[in-house]
Amino acid sequence: MLRNIIDITDLTVEEIDQLIATAEDILANPAKYQDACAHKQLATLFFEPSTRTRLSFESAMLALGGSVLGFSEAASSSTAKGETVGDTVHTVSCYADIIAMRHPKEGAPYAAAQFSEVPIINAGDGGHNHPTQTLTDLLTIHREKGRLDNFTIGFCGDLKFGRTVHSLVNALSRYENIRFVLISPAELKLPRYVKEEALKKRGIPYEQTESLEEVMPKLDILYMTRVQKERFFNEEDYLRLKDSYILTPEKLAEAKPDLSILHPLPRVNEISVAVDKDPRAAYWKQVKNGKFIRMALILKLLNIPTFS
Ligand code: CP
Repeated sequence: MLRNIIDITDLTVEEIDQLIATAEDILANPAKYQDACAHKQLATLFFEPSTRTRLSFESAMLALGGSVLGFSEAASSSTAKGETVGDTVHTVSCYADIIAMRHPKEGAPYAAAQFSEVPIINAGDGGHNHPTQTLTDLLTIHREKGRLDNFTIGFCGDLKFGRTVHSLVNALSRYENIRFVLISPAELKLPRYVKEEALKKRGIPYEQTESLEEVMPKLDILYMTRVQKERFFNEEDYLRLKDSYILTPEKLAEAKPDLSILHPLPRVNEISVAVDKDPRAAYWKQVKNGKFIRMALILKLLNIPTFS
């Protein structure tokens, strides 16, 4: 059966746990998987800039013995001549076995999937969702904490436009006893539809605050985010809000000794480079984990048996 991953809820909790187990097995035994996708092709269709997501997808497929094709900007595809996303995806699905697609318009990967003959993975759609970043985040939390339940997580920064936040809140709301702390300026609060769907509907309590310092001592995980310049309607608002939160070693003085600091990256100014040396900084490990969880996801969507 053709499976698309457009939203993190396209995967059950059991499937996510299995993907994490597979990623752990790949990390421990990469040689076992080096030919698993021989003669398979992944297409990366990126209508919006990316470093980590596109290259980790490509690195993942190459490490599985497959090959890659695609484009990294719409200008180099026939989109520039006026071709629709549906026709582009229909075309590429004639050449590739699986497609990872990023687009600035919310819902574009869902619409494109209607025209595809192969699985479509949403690699980020506007300010909406980013399910494979969420899988990366969950693998990182699992590796850092040894569990995906019973902790307090603070989301800090641009919770309005931060698609990685929307997907991760949705995913974690299905695990037991997660306490959500939402830290943002008033203008960048988590959208109402995410709160309704993920938290209120499930009766999950959450706290909203503008002060990172006030809540820092209670956090087990701090998920920092960039203020998403590309989603703002005017530069003045961006300039006013962009440095709302800057994490420094001094601000971590009141944090738990076993805090894990995550960030989907890219960062601009919201985590000082000096924090990179802190053993609680997990964001570079997160970057590495992104490749292995995407390997697990490619195997699953191509129905290739795993050994975990
Ligand atoms: N985390 C993430 O989506 O990074 P890129 O924009 O570099 O892909």
